[in-house]
Amino acid sequence: MDRYLITGGAGFIGSNFIKYLFENNKDIKVINVDKLTYAGNLKNLQCIKNNDNYTFIQEDICNRNSLEEIFKFYKPNYIINFAAESHVDRSIESSEKFIKTNVLGTQVLLECSLKSKIKKFIQISTDEVYGSLESGFSTEESLLRPKNPYAASKASADLLVQSFYNTYGLPIIITRSSNNYGPHQHNEKLIPKIITNCLDRRKVPIYGRGTNVRDWIYVLDNCDAIKKVLNKGSIGEIYNISSNIEKRNIDLVKIIIKKIKEVLQNKGINTEGINEDLIKYVTDRKGHDKRYGINATKLKETLNWNITTQLESGLEKTINWYIDNNLY
Ligand SMILES: NC(=O)c1ccc[n+]([C@@H]2O[C@H](COP(=O)([O-])OP(=O)(O)OC[C@H]3O[C@@H](n4cnc5c(N)ncnc54)[C@H](O)[C@@H]3O)[C@@H](O)[C@H]2O)c1
Repeated sequence: MDRYLITGGAGFIGSNFIKYLFENNKDIKVINVDKLTYAGNLKNLQCIKNNDNYTFIQEDICNRNSLEEIFKFYKPNYIINFAAESHVDRSIESSEKFIKTNVLGTQVLLECSLKSKIKKFIQISTDEVYGSLESGFSTEESLLRPKNPYAASKASADLLVQSFYNTYGLPIIITRSSNNYGPHQHNEKLIPKIITNCLDRRKVPIYGRGTNVRDWIYVLDNCDAIKKVLNKGSIGEIYNISSNIEKRNIDLVKIIIKKIKEVLQNKGINTEGINEDLIKYVTDRKGHDKRYGINATKLKETLNWNITTQLESGLEKTINWYIDNNLY
């Protein structure tokens, strides 16, 4: 039976990925190692907590002794490293935790993996490592030009992961995805903040003039891509994951406001006060990257992957989830 050691599995993408794994595989064991920072929430995994093939361990990936014990005891075949400090704004306030978890934590996992007989180590990275692009798209060969402390910590981790492949032959693969959205995302991130503030009739803060562009992927499309990379990806490679659905932040907010009204109307709920007057422009983020754009042709052509959820339907599912879970 394959054994998956997943770090950061109580967070947004990690929890969606664990559920996705169990839905698509019968004979697997999952060990979820998560420190449960403010971003981790075990409610995200309520539906599988009693599954005999699932184990949760509250631990910091920087804790080498504990991680060595966990590797020795559970003997995982696959390591998927989601654990990270993930919010750019927090990294601008203070980068220390970002360096510790994202870089040193990754180093601990790599060293533990070297001592174990693992089949694959998947590092979950981000399009932010390529930095801002006015136009065009970064490929896996593009230079890394991270522009904020979060992105710099992720780029550092990527280089470390690659060095373990080149130096020791550790079977690693890196995925770099664009912005994810969907159920279970923390309210501090853009889409949940827009949804929950609108539902509450609170102002929706938008940086600058809202002209920054991001590329949005529904979280389960990312999970599907990661699973394909896990099953069939080539060792030592990097795979960009993107839907190429690009939106200016201001346009995204307007789409979401319209969608929230539609969803509420369909449920027979009052939509009074939900309109574009809720948008409030605020002082721009320091060093705010203008646009990320990545080319995911390699993943599409070699692993036959594509998205199945378009923005409109993904947003509808996400809005419904926040309403149904009373998260506003
Ligand atoms: N969310 C996105 O849009 C996006 C896009 C591209 C890449 N990524 C990457 O995907 C991964 C997951 O992102 P997310 O949005 O789910 O993040 P998240 O912030 O929702 O979850 C992170 C999880 O890691 C855990 N964690 C943090 N520090 C830890 C530590 N020292 N030891 C163990 N666990 C720790 C937290 O408790 C939390 O459960 C991250 O590596 C992030 O860089 C995210």
